[in-house]
Amino acid sequence: MAVRKIIRMGHPALRRVARAVPAEDIGSAALHRLVADMIDTLHDYGGIGLAAPQINESFRLAIVEIRGGSSRYGELAPMPLTVCVNPTIDVCGAECAGYWEGCLSVPGLRGFVQRPQHIRVAFTDLRGERRSIVAKGFLATVFQHEFDHLDGKLYVDRIADPRQLAFEEEYVRYLLPSDG
Ligand code: NI
Repeated sequence: MAVRKIIRMGHPALRRVARAVPAEDIGSAALHRLVADMIDTLHDYGGIGLAAPQINESFRLAIVEIRGGSSRYGELAPMPLTVCVNPTIDVCGAECAGYWEGCLSVPGLRGFVQRPQHIRVAFTDLRGERRSIVAKGFLATVFQHEFDHLDGKLYVDRIADPRQLAFEEEYVRYLLPSDG
């Protein structure tokens, strides 16, 4: 297993639509190695989600893991490590809310993005079984952010007001909501 290099905004691979993981590859040693590398990389860089294109692997594959407690995104409910192969999203409710998102491929910056806050996520797990979970609030934002990477999109594309893009240090100093 290995920590891989995360490619950054400007690398053309972040702008490509990733290809579906073929069903016959889901149990393969190669896919399990790739997922293990993604987990090592996520832990090393200290994020809460990582999509395969961020390590220059063009597959529809993303992982999310929220350890819970306090983080650079405030107090968070935990989400155990979830490996999503070929995920899809259905929006269950039109209500949107915004968060100051960050991205390991856009280091040092935060941007305010509004997204639907009640979604259903469907994906294939590493045993090849199709699963479905409902995500609300910040977790809904996290899944949408990660799955955007599979379509060559970055959160900066979704910032409605470019004034709501800031360096992390200035975000903490001037923009961090004081109520939590
Ligand atoms: Ni990202």
